[in-house]
Amino acid sequence: MTSVTAFAPATVSNVGCGFDVLGFALESPGDEVEARFAPAGVVIEDITGDGGRLPREAARNTASVAVLALLTKLGERRGVALRIRKGLPLSSGLGGSAASAAAAVVAVDALIGARSSIDTLIACALEGERLGAGSAHADNIAPSICGGFVLVRRPSPPDVLRLPVPMGLTAVVVHPDLEIETAGARALLGDTVPLADAVRQWANMGALVDGLHRGDFALIGRALEDTIAEPRRAALIPGLALIKRAAVGAGALGCSISGSGPSLFALCAGAGVASRVADAMVESVRAAIGGDPQVYVSSLEARGARVVSTCAS
Ligand code: HSE
Repeated sequence: MTSVTAFAPATVSNVGCGFDVLGFALESPGDEVEARFAPAGVVIEDITGDGGRLPREAARNTASVAVLALLTKLGERRGVALRIRKGLPLSSGLGGSAASAAAAVVAVDALIGARSSIDTLIACALEGERLGAGSAHADNIAPSICGGFVLVRRPSPPDVLRLPVPMGLTAVVVHPDLEIETAGARALLGDTVPLADAVRQWANMGALVDGLHRGDFALIGRALEDTIAEPRRAALIPGLALIKRAAVGAGALGCSISGSGPSLFALCAGAGVASRVADAMVESVRAAIGGDPQVYVSSLEARGARVVSTCAS
């Protein structure tokens, strides 16, 4: 029986000033989903790498909910069985639920041979994210599917812009030994923001996009400021100000929370400085939080979700 396995990468969303609209993909880690036809509906056969914590029930899992949306969209009557291999830590701020949903729709689309558009894959994966995070924001789904650095002008129907990445721009991501549920972190934000904070945020957003287009690293650094989500979530990450100072002190252009945290990201002008920033961030995370943080260094030109193996038997 034919099976298709797809990989989808971790993502850094928000990117400082782009709450719910900016995100970029990492080269690794990521989640893998294997799909094959089954008699009817969507079933989850197995999940590994989650310590038994994710729902196996299809109606409650982001990957199967995304696949159900794709089967419905395509009018596909055959069922699908999924095996999910979590490479991403849970509740880490690295887009774990999005990566599972993205890998699942890419695997199933290839299994069916549907060749759906990127917008269709994003729209279906977003249904999984809606379940996982309690909100249909696409700033993890879109970069996980498209790769690279993206701006979500509108999640539904998707209007996703791919942003250029200046040569050498490198991300450092440190995942402290903590977990933060996205829904809870979103509840901290409330429904309104002071006008002065909004003005500063959209000025930074424009500046960051312009900095990416012109390869202006200094401008990118000045624009990496979040006046909306980070101040309201700072208390969730002990030592956040210290860790940010350590990153910038070691040469980062800027540093902020990855998605809803607890992971932190820094952008750097080249791999050499990124390595020094990684060391400084890990040391300050150990001092502030303890534990054994995981660190990832990645180009910002990482590829998006893709089929990694097909097995015909
Ligand atoms: N933009 C989202 C947030 C990303 O910050 O809540 C987390 O899924």
